[in-house]
Amino acid sequence: MATAAVPKVHKNFINGEWIESRSAGTIENRNPADTSQLVGMFPSSSNEDVNLAVDAAAEAYKKWRLVPAPKRAEILYRAAETLVKRKEDLAKDMTREMGKPLSETRGDVQEAIDMTYYMAGEGRRLFGQTTPSELPNKFAMSVRQPLGVVGMITPWNFPMAIPSWKLMPALVSGDTVVIKPAQDTPLSTYNLVQILSEAGLPAGVVNIVSGAGSVAGAPLVAHPNVAAVSFTGSTETGRLVSLACAASFKPCHLEMGGKNIIIVMDDANLDLALDGAVWGGFGTTGQRCTATSRIAVHHSVYKEFLDRFTERAKALKVGDGLDPDTDMGPVINETQLQTVLKYIQIGKDEGARLVTGGRRIESGPYSRGFFVEPAIFADASAKMRIAREEIFGPVVTLIPFRSFEEAIEIANGVSYGLSASIYTRDANRAFTAMRDIETGIVYVNAPTIGAEIQLPFGGTKNTGNGHREAGTAAIEFYTEWKTLYVDYSDRLQRAQIDTGGFGRVSD
Ligand code: UN1
Repeated sequence: MATAAVPKVHKNFINGEWIESRSAGTIENRNPADTSQLVGMFPSSSNEDVNLAVDAAAEAYKKWRLVPAPKRAEILYRAAETLVKRKEDLAKDMTREMGKPLSETRGDVQEAIDMTYYMAGEGRRLFGQTTPSELPNKFAMSVRQPLGVVGMITPWNFPMAIPSWKLMPALVSGDTVVIKPAQDTPLSTYNLVQILSEAGLPAGVVNIVSGAGSVAGAPLVAHPNVAAVSFTGSTETGRLVSLACAASFKPCHLEMGGKNIIIVMDDANLDLALDGAVWGGFGTTGQRCTATSRIAVHHSVYKEFLDRFTERAKALKVGDGLDPDTDMGPVINETQLQTVLKYIQIGKDEGARLVTGGRRIESGPYSRGFFVEPAIFADASAKMRIAREEIFGPVVTLIPFRSFEEAIEIANGVSYGLSASIYTRDANRAFTAMRDIETGIVYVNAPTIGAEIQLPFGGTKNTGNGHREAGTAAIEFYTEWKTLYVDYSDRLQRAQIDTGGFGRVSD
């Protein structure tokens, strides 16, 4: 008789070694599609573990910052090659801990691969500037310098892609890292760091401390030797991170909530818009920061869109992400499930029309997971809570509108600003929307999800605090400018006062 494999007990990764947490606690990582499956046990770390990890990162920084960037990049390049080779196993591990279908977890690993190759390339760029000095025989330039130890706190919805967005630009820049992965999905971060380590990353350059935000995340953010913090998660927690960093002027990069919209104009290709709505709304079980959670539809096509969208949502197969027939996996945990159900009730109470879904699925094997039917609310007003607040689940709210201007107003009428999309064949409207929608990312004729790693990723308002991830924009956060002047005139030259023998500029 087959016996279940003994679940692996994981440790923290500090100074190149897997070591026991100083606290006795452990956190169970269970499969959200079937909670009887234990994926592994992870340390519930505390202050002491964080201190050890930061000490290791601070020590490693002394050498890592001096390794030439192209050499740092070679390690990333080797790691990317291994990620490619192990993609399938990594995707399976991720589906087991996070729930999304294998096609999507392959995409998550692919995003990490793309980012790792991209940042490996940055090793031979990391461009600074040279510019003429106003004085003769004087050289002026700026170079990028690493920050030191960076603390990273990452979410469960992209368990490998998002850690890679933070780790790779930091590493190529010469920073060292302590990362605290989400409690629900630490395994994928472990896998990524294991691969970096195998690729030759020196001990102490990346350290993992797993555990709860309040116990392991908070001391990491507050640690005086952590030079900067990068956080992706809820707006609520982001505010706490921001306040904790403010006391010591510590730079922090925050990537938070969204309430992303698709606008469907009267001239849209409806087949295309429907494909986008289904993928944007229910892909990843609606658990993307970029998920489409509102769809504003022009009144002249509203009824047709609603009927066809409802049909499509009903046809989605909800199930275990390891089953190739599954379209939509479970939500991540009980708390998230309750949040979704709470918003279904809120929507009904507000007077929106629930046309399909919104119930927990509990029959047979579903009872062991956190499954919920994809839900659509129709005839909502933009003022309702379901049309303004982030739900982070498979709930899409339809809002009818009458004019383009009204649609733009609806798009901008929320406190978030991550991603938005418009379906139209009118180039004038498309360009006006690109200009006037107040989000960090705007799509034309494509859904609100699917950002590529070579371009800046992030949002406005309560979504972010002005920084961007991905592309060269990420390097802006993980480095600091240093400006260098070299005067080879062999005499004192006073900027703004002396003319260097070239006459006065003006009186
Ligand atoms: C997120 O949900 O936090 O654009 C990230 C997208 C993905 C990344 C989403 N490339 O939907």
